[in-house]
Amino acid sequence: MDKIQIGQIGVGNWGKNLLRNFFNNPQIKVNRICDLNSTTLNRIAHEYPDSIVSTQVDDVLKDPAIQAVVIATQPITHYELAKKALLNGKHVFVEKPMVLDVQHGEELVRMAAELKKIVMVGHILEYHPAFLKLKEMITSGELGEVYYIYTTRVNLGIVREEENSLWSFAPHDISIILMLMDQEPQRVVCCGQGYLRKEVEDVTFTTLHFKDNKMAHLHVSWLDPHKIRKITVVGSKKMVVVDDMESTEKMRIYDKGVNFQGAVLPYGEAITLRTGDIQIPYIKMQEPLQLEVQHFVDCIRNGKTPRSDAKDGLRVVKILDAAQKSLKQHGVPIEF
Ligand SMILES: NC(=O)c1ccc[n+]([C@@H]2O[C@H](COP(=O)([O-])OP(=O)(O)OC[C@H]3O[C@@H](n4cnc5c(N)ncnc54)[C@H](O)[C@@H]3O)[C@@H](O)[C@H]2O)c1
Repeated sequence: MDKIQIGQIGVGNWGKNLLRNFFNNPQIKVNRICDLNSTTLNRIAHEYPDSIVSTQVDDVLKDPAIQAVVIATQPITHYELAKKALLNGKHVFVEKPMVLDVQHGEELVRMAAELKKIVMVGHILEYHPAFLKLKEMITSGELGEVYYIYTTRVNLGIVREEENSLWSFAPHDISIILMLMDQEPQRVVCCGQGYLRKEVEDVTFTTLHFKDNKMAHLHVSWLDPHKIRKITVVGSKKMVVVDDMESTEKMRIYDKGVNFQGAVLPYGEAITLRTGDIQIPYIKMQEPLQLEVQHFVDCIRNGKTPRSDAKDGLRVVKILDAAQKSLKQHGVPIEF
């Protein structure tokens, strides 16, 4: 079978990881690579001598041999580049956040449907084996009713100039919370502060309120002494923690909960705490980026809709947009 010919735009800090995975995929040929930064481009040209490099995006977008374009540039450029790629008849893989504006997101959703092209967003956690296992456990009922979820994504750097920590980090947590909750929030509240530059928030705390009093809370920051990538899911039967900084034991399942004995007893006597075993399940790990790239390939080959398609990208952007509105009004709740 012929290889899918792709062109990648943007090979900076993250783009180079994407490029490595596309390059190593046996069903892909990376024909062209584009970056505005000539130092970056020279390094990449040296590492990938079989690909044609250029600083002109049109060299990628207008090449008729290229079937799909990978966009790993700064978010402010995503909309224009993705739109141009679609108009030139290409499938699109675009990094998160898909766009910075809800209307732009709606336009990409429409265009992908009308032009019958695949638009996939780099919501990498949706391809992460530990999070897929967590989703499976929730779907099977093992955790009982999911009450609430909280996530922590903090470290020192990379300090972004354009988007704040909310738009830079939270797309990952929002995409995974939506996948686990399987519904959209009704209300969004966000607070945060810019300490390094007043107008770009280094730290944000966002709360998503769902129906039936379910909640999710996200703490993201690039100004923090710890490097933490953690999610806690509290269910009526069990509780689970996924710690992505752990190399092997990524998931811990706590058989903990509170049982009610009956409403006739006084409240204090009616509840008993249940503390059972802590389990660390074996999860066969594979690089999530490799799985994400393979999913893009499968979708192109089989005409399937990606798990993180443009609609998924838009759902996340809408929540980011509501959170941003709340943030700028010091935590005013935004109805969704
Ligand atoms: N999925 C993840 O886990 C993850 C992690 C980090 C970053 N990202 C996302 O990846 C994207 C890129 O982030 P990064 O950290 O690599 O940024 P970066 O600034 O390191 O790299 C961006 C590159 O794009 C190039 N570029 C910008 N505009 C261009 C244009 N019009 N044509 C050609 N090249 C252009 C720049 O020269 C630069 O080399 C962002 O959307 C970011 O949110 C995703």
